[in-house]
Amino acid sequence: MPSMLPGAPWLLAHKSMLATHQLRKVSVHGNDYVMWKDAVGDIHALPNACPHMGAMLSEGWCEAAGDSSSRVVCPFHALAFDAQGRTVLPGANKPTRPQMEPLELIVQGDFVWSYGGYAPKLTIPGVLNAIASQYTFMGFTADCSVETDLLSMLLNMHDYNHQNGTHRDLFRIAEVQFHQFVDQGYESHAYYDMPTAPYSLMEKLRRPDLFLLPSTLSAHMENHFPALVIFHGESSLGRVAQCHLFVPEAEHRTRTYILLFGRAKHPAFNLMGRAYLNFGRVVVGQDADILGKLYPNAPQKLRLNNEVGMDWVRKNFEKFSAAEAASKASVSP
Ligand code: FES
Ligand SMILES: [Fe+2]
Repeated sequence: MPSMLPGAPWLLAHKSMLATHQLRKVSVHGNDYVMWKDAVGDIHALPNACPHMGAMLSEGWCEAAGDSSSRVVCPFHALAFDAQGRTVLPGANKPTRPQMEPLELIVQGDFVWSYGGYAPKLTIPGVLNAIASQYTFMGFTADCSVETDLLSMLLNMHDYNHQNGTHRDLFRIAEVQFHQFVDQGYESHAYYDMPTAPYSLMEKLRRPDLFLLPSTLSAHMENHFPALVIFHGESSLGRVAQCHLFVPEAEHRTRTYILLFGRAKHPAFNLMGRAYLNFGRVVVGQDADILGKLYPNAPQKLRLNNEVGMDWVRKNFEKFSAAEAASKASVSP
């Protein structure tokens, strides 16, 4: 079974993650790219291996060219490549033909999507654009590469029983009251409540972000297979849409990060942005830690209640892969 779902769209970045003319290495489907934003805000991505002698272009720098475009300069012998992969060799006065094929990007507002060079098999979910139009962007956090395959990463995200283990320090979840799972194919919705054991006033004064935690965490998770899970939360101060993104960097390396959007009901909400981001960072750190400590081939003999989200992930993984196999079969003679 293919482990990286070629043909699915991946959100490689939110524009706020890219400072103008700063190079960023991104990986998808086992390939590395150098990505950057030019002076007019256009985003480019080239294969990261320099076509001269293979240096990592992302270790070089970016320079503005006269016409508000920009070039990425190799850190080894300083050849400068434009966004089409052309360079001007020393002594020559015109650019070479393209030496690399740029990665195709689909930019919608601040969202930078890519199919990683594969033919699209699934459309890009429009929900992020809808959220961006209704909420304020509060920042990104927890951008990290985890030593795990995409399937394990997604199973963890849709596992409603790991709060008492993986996240016990943070939330003191007393139980998970699962209410409903709405399966709409590659989209789904899960609703559950998690009553928490109370913190003392002393603890809260020491860590004021704990005031953010309601006595019951009510979760509505909106899932768009495979790249996106949105955790909708609401308190008296405001609403948040915490968007978890996933990118298969390689067979056993999966990137994840959070884009946080909020809508204030009370002015104090805006002061809490940092605290919300910090919660997200801690949660992802705890998940990354446990995922790095699993025996991948251990036989799984037990099953808990409410594993319906994980069933949904497995089912879609198989469905997507089967569609893939079928389309391959119809191409071959
Ligand atoms: S390796 Fe990049 S310029 Fe030589
Ligand atoms: Fe988790």
